[in-house]
Amino acid sequence: MSGEGQQARHVAIIMDGNGRWAKRKHLPRVMGHRKGVEAVRELVRSLKDTNIECLTLYAFSSENWKRPEEEIDDLMNLMRKFIKSDLPEFIANDVKLHILGDWQSLAPDIVEMLEDALAQTAGGSRTLAVALNYGSQAEIAQAARAAASEGEITAEAIDRHLYSAPLPPLDLLIRTSGEVRLSNFLLWQAAYAEMLFLDVLWPDFTPDHLKSALMKFGERERRFGGR
Ligand code: FPP
Repeated sequence: MSGEGQQARHVAIIMDGNGRWAKRKHLPRVMGHRKGVEAVRELVRSLKDTNIECLTLYAFSSENWKRPEEEIDDLMNLMRKFIKSDLPEFIANDVKLHILGDWQSLAPDIVEMLEDALAQTAGGSRTLAVALNYGSQAEIAQAARAAASEGEITAEAIDRHLYSAPLPPLDLLIRTSGEVRLSNFLLWQAAYAEMLFLDVLWPDFTPDHLKSALMKFGERERRFGGR
């Protein structure tokens, strides 16, 4: 699944369109999120056929708390189920979990499950990074404060204090559902990332879509400000 040309080491996805997928099928919103989790599962399974070292997924933003309580409960329950059912597979497939965001302020049972999952997958070689209760502006502000408390605020010092510090540089950022915006996701990390905005709704996203995104990435010329 690697394609020609340059290879993406780190791919991030804004998984958008679950609600519209459900609406089009006259189903409750939660069914869109449920199908969205299935798409996540298939994608993580397909990572072994790629050269991707890290896949970062935007699962819950710090702004998502503004949604109705019922939908928030549905999303949190899906998270619980997903960790419980898929953790053994992560371990078997050498997938290491990483979390971006203020996840320690989620419900105590979720925090406990995540701590356990982080510990059990720590030896994995390929990373699944999940953004949970994540907002990029708050992340940058926090990193700038930490950098200032150590001395000079440089780009390198900020980098070291971002949630993404242990991850490879972001190569490719994908957003599904046709919306063309970043929604407070990886604003700093996307400085030189290639971007792809796809018309497919997240529940319909398959490993083949990822494969074709990686091919497109391989064809792009990245200059990092040079020429
Ligand atoms: C956007 O669809 C999607 C979300 C807000 C949540 C993404 C979550 C999942 C795919 C499931 C949980 C993930 C994991 C890793 C267990 P939307 O509801 O904004 O769709 P709409 O814009 O069509 O209404």
